[in-house]
Amino acid sequence: MSENAKLTYNGQEYEFPVITGSENESAIDIAKLRGSTGLITLDPGFKNTGSTSSAITFLDGEEGILRYRGYKIEDLAEKSSFLEVSYLLIYGELPTQEQYESFSKEITHHTLVHEDIKKILEGFPSNSHPMGVLSSLICALTAFYPDSLAPNRSEEEVNLSIIRLIAKMPTFAAWAYKNEVGHPVNYPDNRLDYCSNFLKMMFALPAEKYDVDPVIASALDKLLILHADHEQNCSTSTVRIVGSSQASIYASISAGINALWGPLHGGANQSVIEMLEAIKADGGDAKKYLDKAKDKNDPFRLMGFGHRVYKNFDPRARIIKKAADDVLEKLGVNDPVLDIAKELEHSALNDQYFIDRKLYPNVDFYSGIIYRALGIPTDMFTVMFALGRLPGWIAQWKEMRENGEPIGRPRQVYVGAQEREYVSMNRR
Ligand code: SDX
Repeated sequence: MSENAKLTYNGQEYEFPVITGSENESAIDIAKLRGSTGLITLDPGFKNTGSTSSAITFLDGEEGILRYRGYKIEDLAEKSSFLEVSYLLIYGELPTQEQYESFSKEITHHTLVHEDIKKILEGFPSNSHPMGVLSSLICALTAFYPDSLAPNRSEEEVNLSIIRLIAKMPTFAAWAYKNEVGHPVNYPDNRLDYCSNFLKMMFALPAEKYDVDPVIASALDKLLILHADHEQNCSTSTVRIVGSSQASIYASISAGINALWGPLHGGANQSVIEMLEAIKADGGDAKKYLDKAKDKNDPFRLMGFGHRVYKNFDPRARIIKKAADDVLEKLGVNDPVLDIAKELEHSALNDQYFIDRKLYPNVDFYSGIIYRALGIPTDMFTVMFALGRLPGWIAQWKEMRENGEPIGRPRQVYVGAQEREYVSMNRR
């Protein structure tokens, strides 16, 4: 147990306990701060504020370390599979062969969705962004499984919802894409593995035979692993706080999808490709855009660069960058924006502005280049991020509920008008 933290205020000294986690991170426990001092803390964006104690993911931003339940992301990306990593994140341990087979079999047999989902899907115009369709269809599960709304459900009932989410999200994602391109939806094919089934639902057409390319399926599986969890990021914090009101897991995950959508978060992978395309269309002058990113009067940011926690290379970016080279070579794809990305990265990493602010490529900088090589359309990139992040969101929601955490309700410092009398309309 670390020594207490001392605060001196208004001539009085206060002590607060300091807790230390399993990786020697320490935090001041301020549960009694307001009661003893009348003070609250103020920390916009929660840059210095921990919301919970969690045993799921550890990351060290200074060292560029990322582990799921203690296992290094580099090992999991190389040796594991997305469903195995999902099991690890959600249940806390790597599955035995029997546990894995039972888990994947359950998921396979829940991939089909109620036919009425198609009626909801048909209500979306073809220009609907697939993230909005996805969050809507996930939330619609509350209508098809109303039992999920009960706050105190048994472990078995919660687990069934977890299986349904992991099983049906790829179907919803693929159907959102088919709605956008005006193609008939494809039903799941239970003979296929998780990623192959998704790719077939995404790209198969009734008029011709579709064979999944194992290179693409394997690359997708690795990408999903790399996105599977990332401790208390914006969308995960959203899932936890929505779940803390005892809202259903479907409503909580739907909220997480919407939080991920923003270009500062999961939407960055789409913005990176749009940025690279704009640089290419503008003559490929990376330095011009680097200067724009540094110009305080220019709202332009180097998308895919910087991170709230990583002040070193995002370990996922390293893995994805290598995978991009491998996949494009295997598929015989030559993508000019990859060259622009590498030039931009090299210039930024040697530029004092970026060095001073410890801005490095993050998970989104290269992922879009692989998704594009796999044939995934740009506005589906963030949907792919959501598919990957789903087990992390589920694990974090489950942990929050199992820990009996209180409803999330931050305080504020009020800076508005002081008390004043109402003035009738004719006297204003
Ligand atoms: C994800 O939290 C997670 O874990 C998220 C994620 C996950 O797996 O869940 O890792 C996924 O969201 C990755 C991040 C994807 N977003 C982007 O790539 C968008 C571009 N990046 C930035 O907008 C920014 O870096 C953030 C949002 C990622 C982090 O912002 P912070 O921590 O609030 O930092 P900041 O905005 O206060 O920036 C600090 C300084 C500022 O300059 P000064 O005011 O100090 O002079 O760095 C500058 C910023 O202007 N800066 C950038 C920049 N990012 C930060 N300048 C140019 N280009 C950038 N990309």
